[in-house]
Amino acid sequence: MSEEPLFATEVPPEQAEELGPTGRPLPVLPEPVPPADGPKHALIIAMCNQKGGVGKTTTTINLGAALAETGRRVLLVDFDPQGSLSVGLGVNPHTLDRSIYNVMLGRGVDVHDVILESVTPNMDILPANIDLSAAEVQLVSEVAREQTLRRVLKPVRGEYDVILIDCAPSLGLLTVNALTAADQVIMPLELEFFALRGIALLTDTIEKVQERLNPDLQVLGILATMYDGRTVHSREVLQRVVEAFGDQVFHTVIRRTIKFPETTVAGEPITSYAPASAGAGAYRTLAREVLARCHGA
Ligand SMILES: Nc1ncnc2c1ncn2[C@@H]1O[C@H](COP(=O)(O)OP(=O)(O)OP(=O)(O)O)[C@@H](O)[C@H]1O
Ligand SMILES: [Mg+2]
Repeated sequence: MSEEPLFATEVPPEQAEELGPTGRPLPVLPEPVPPADGPKHALIIAMCNQKGGVGKTTTTINLGAALAETGRRVLLVDFDPQGSLSVGLGVNPHTLDRSIYNVMLGRGVDVHDVILESVTPNMDILPANIDLSAAEVQLVSEVAREQTLRRVLKPVRGEYDVILIDCAPSLGLLTVNALTAADQVIMPLELEFFALRGIALLTDTIEKVQERLNPDLQVLGILATMYDGRTVHSREVLQRVVEAFGDQVFHTVIRRTIKFPETTVAGEPITSYAPASAGAGAYRTLAREVLARCHGA
C-alpha cells in the first residue's frame, strides 16, 4: 500500500502554476517591443480615485517611467492643483511661468510652450500648480467645459505613444475632464479597510461620462497598492478586492515600501532612483500588463 500524500491537492511542481499575490495564476507577459515607427496616436490613460493618498501620483510617475524605458514616448499630465506630480519629478510648481491652467483657460497659449522635459529620457511633463484650482470654477461658464482637456491634448496626441493623466482626489469637473479626454482609466486602490468605499461613486461617474461624453471610455484595471504581505489584514483586503472585481484587478500588486516617499524627495522615478529595487520591478511588470491589455499600445 502506498502512503497517502501529505496534501490531497498536492500537484507535482512541473504542473503547478505559480500563483501571484492576487491568488490567481500569474500570466506570462511578453517582453515589450519598442513601438512601431510611423505616425503616433497616443493611448490616453487617466489615473483616478477620489480617495486621497492611494498612489495615483506615484503610479503615474513610475508607470510612465517604466513605459518610457520600453522606448515609448510618454507625456505625464499633472491634473491636480496640489502639483504633486510636478514636485515628484523635480519641478517647482510655484516658480512656473505657465502651467496647464494657462493652456486650458488662456487664449492662444500653445501647449508645446508649457510642456517640460523630465529627468527621464522619453518622458515629458505638462505641469500644474495651485492656479488649476481656479479652473474648476472658471470652466463652469465655458462652452463644452467637459471637453477642455481633450482639446488641450489634441495637438500633442500625435507626438506621444502614451499620455497618463494624474487626477486630483475629487470627482469634480477636472476629473470629468480627465475621463472625457481618456481612452482608459486605472483605479489605484490602497489595501486598507476602507479601500472599497467610494468605488461605487467612482464607477457611477465613469458610467455617466460613458453615457454622455465619452462612449469609448473603458476601465483598464484596478491596481492594488501599499500591499504588505506580512499582515493578514492586507492579504484579506486584497482577497476581497479580487472577489469584488475579478479579472479587472491587475496581477501586479504594488508593495508598501519607504522607497516611494524617498523618490519624491529625490524628484525622480523609482526606475532610476533604485533601478534594481522590487518597487521598480513591480512598475516594470505593471507596464507589461498595461501593454498586454492594450494590445501593445
Ligand atoms: N507603494 C507605496 N509604499 C509606500 N508609500 C507609498 C506607496 N505609494 C505611494 N506612497 C506614498 O504615499 C503617499 C501618497 O501617495 P500618492 O501621492 O501617490 O497618492 P495620491 O493618490 O496621488 O494622493 P492624492 O490623492 O493626494 O493626490 C505619498 O507620500 C507616497 O510617497
Ligand atoms: Mg496625487
